[in-house]
Amino acid sequence: MPRAPAIARTLPSLRRALEGLRARRATIALVPTMGALHDGHLALMRQAKRRASKVVVSIFVNPTQFAPHEDFGSYPRTWKADMAKLAEARVDLVWNPDVGTMYPPDFATRILTEGPATAGLEDRFRPHFFGGVATVVGKLFAQCRPDVALFGQKDYQQLKVVTRMAADLDLGVKVIGIPIVRERDGLAMSSRNVYLSAEQRAVAPTLHRVMKDAVKRLRNGSDLEAVMADGTRTIGNAGFTLDYFEARHAETLAPVRSIKDEPVRLLVAAKIGTTRLIDNIGV
Ligand code: PAF
Repeated sequence: MPRAPAIARTLPSLRRALEGLRARRATIALVPTMGALHDGHLALMRQAKRRASKVVVSIFVNPTQFAPHEDFGSYPRTWKADMAKLAEARVDLVWNPDVGTMYPPDFATRILTEGPATAGLEDRFRPHFFGGVATVVGKLFAQCRPDVALFGQKDYQQLKVVTRMAADLDLGVKVIGIPIVRERDGLAMSSRNVYLSAEQRAVAPTLHRVMKDAVKRLRNGSDLEAVMADGTRTIGNAGFTLDYFEARHAETLAPVRSIKDEPVRLLVAAKIGTTRLIDNIGV
């Protein structure tokens, strides 16, 4: 049976555990998560093991990145199953603070994000989100002082925001983006997929199908505006309420006029019922 990872729940115990891990000049990879682990997270852990000698996974459902009307209360919390997966993945340490440890009552600081955080994608629909993410990830980096940190490319704008933040604040951590892991029918893995009813689950892969088709047409020379308009229509007809379906520069996230403004990434966010799905693909 795989050995369960050590668990730290307080800052002193995290410090002690990290000192132990670093004793033999180990390098440390951090995989920040909110738990409800799926194969996408496990891919991050596999990559983490390849890039550092010790792997720390944080599990913390971060209240400051949820708006009051969002799903903080109902976000899936699957501790037992998560621990079994972390043992199987041979993770060394789990950092699992409670809200009071992360945000003591007199906590009064927030990282203000600009640049990629104001690209007009997720920030347009979740204005509170990147401040909350940057603040908690900044704290996780300060607490764990990892050499590398791994994030999934599914939250593409988040990856850019965290990369910028780590560089701007000289945090000395290399942020690495790992490709999206998909279900067999193309749906991007997400902890929120458990919210989907059977009917919604059947429709959900439409987002990936539309993007794949768009990439194919763009590579064959079709006009960007026409392709995006067709995709928008297909997503709407499938029953989604679309937040955005956009072509952006893959590094700056600036809008592009044609795929000649390379590298280009298509990004989509849409609601099916009350569940909001995001996805993206390189052109
Ligand atoms: O992507 C997530 O799971 C979260 O936004 C993160 C990076 C763990 C911060 O809470």
